[in-house]
Amino acid sequence: MSSPRTRPLGVAVIGAGMAGRAHLAGYRAATTLSGGPYGEGLPPVRLVAVADAHAPFAHAAATRYGYDRAETSWQAVAEADDVDAVSVVVANRLHREVVEGLLAAGKHVLCEKPLAPSVADAEAMVAAAAAHPDQVAAVGFTYRRSPAVAAVQAHLAGGHLGAVQHVNLHYWCDYGADPQAPMSWRYRGAPGSGVLADVGSHLVDLGEFLAGPLASVHGTVMSRVHARRPVPLGAVVGHALAAVGDEFEDVGNEDLVTFTARFEGGATGTFSASRVAHGLPNGLGFEVFCEKGAVAFDLNRTGEFTIADHSAPGGLNGYRQVLVGPAHPYVAGGLPMDFPSVGHGQSDFFTFQCRAFLDEVAGGVGTPLGDLPVVPPLAHGLHNLRVLDAVASAWEGTLW
Ligand SMILES: NC(=O)c1ccc[n+]([C@@H]2O[C@H](COP(=O)([O-])OP(=O)(O)OC[C@H]3O[C@@H](n4cnc5c(N)ncnc54)[C@H](O)[C@@H]3O)[C@@H](O)[C@H]2O)c1
Repeated sequence: MSSPRTRPLGVAVIGAGMAGRAHLAGYRAATTLSGGPYGEGLPPVRLVAVADAHAPFAHAAATRYGYDRAETSWQAVAEADDVDAVSVVVANRLHREVVEGLLAAGKHVLCEKPLAPSVADAEAMVAAAAAHPDQVAAVGFTYRRSPAVAAVQAHLAGGHLGAVQHVNLHYWCDYGADPQAPMSWRYRGAPGSGVLADVGSHLVDLGEFLAGPLASVHGTVMSRVHARRPVPLGAVVGHALAAVGDEFEDVGNEDLVTFTARFEGGATGTFSASRVAHGLPNGLGFEVFCEKGAVAFDLNRTGEFTIADHSAPGGLNGYRQVLVGPAHPYVAGGLPMDFPSVGHGQSDFFTFQCRAFLDEVAGGVGTPLGDLPVVPPLAHGLHNLRVLDAVASAWEGTLW
């Protein structure tokens, strides 16, 4: 592999499903982020390849997002001399094999969450990354890249609201609410590999991003609402509905999970995640209650957060809305119209993440080119999995 400094940084994405497309689009836009926290900018970037085992997805995505080549195996990407940095966006059970193969081939890697299906797999991936210390090996937790979430985190870290006392986080989705939603990799596996791994991984990451490391988890309850699902007749993308036949397959993992936790700093955490929450396609939100006030965020309203900080007198005190703008992280130079209250959404979080990853690839491991925080290393994904493992282990009941 030749040096990224002597030719454009070559980028590839493995997996052209729901999140793979967000990475593909994210790299396209990543080069347009300019000025402000984005520093001196990226070296030239070339969108080289998209690989998906389902050839029509690979070809359609390459055309749609303007990548040079469509491939049908991750090995083709690993072997390509013109690829430097790769996103791994396939089913969790495939992460280890693909990440290890890419690292061995000299690529920088950004792997989707949850890092792996098991702690043992994640440990092996961290060991593989340690054997290649000059390559970036990162795990993607996109919600850290929400301007509002990052602004809330900075405000909490600044101590303006005093010590955090209670963090309540929920991620309520409806992708499994319809019993006819097709069987997919998300519904296979043991208890703990369902909604806990899928979206609970985000909640654990966000909780620790906002309130620091977790010390313990307690009181897990997991439930499975739909015990079997129809097998799709063709390829399925993400959470999408698809044509199904008469054949059914048993669901192995949970639709719902709730648990409580204690943070090292003393705060209490309450968490709940669901994939059967009618009416909420993507219902992520949190409230953080502190010594001197509170702050809240709802993903359905990405361009704002609310805060209660007793800055108004007695009868006028209460939550007030803060509209996100260039005074907040990621916005200045990060959006084409970087003015207050100009909307942005979840796809932009992927752009910010892709940009941070490429900055680190260009600048060296652990070194952002601009002011963006680097993408967390694989060890962070391992830590996240250990927490998820403890949550699942704290449940001794059955799923129904
Ligand atoms: N950060 C986020 O917000 C977010 C959102 C969704 C999914 N994810 C994560 O992204 C990953 C993928 O999820 P998804 O919803 O995009 O899944 P998906 O099922 O929509 O897409 C997976 C794709 O991988 C392809 N594939 C299967 N085997 C392959 C192989 N051996 N080589 C190459 N391609 C192969 C499939 O054909 C499919 O197109 C998961 O780890 C998931 O947890 C993250």
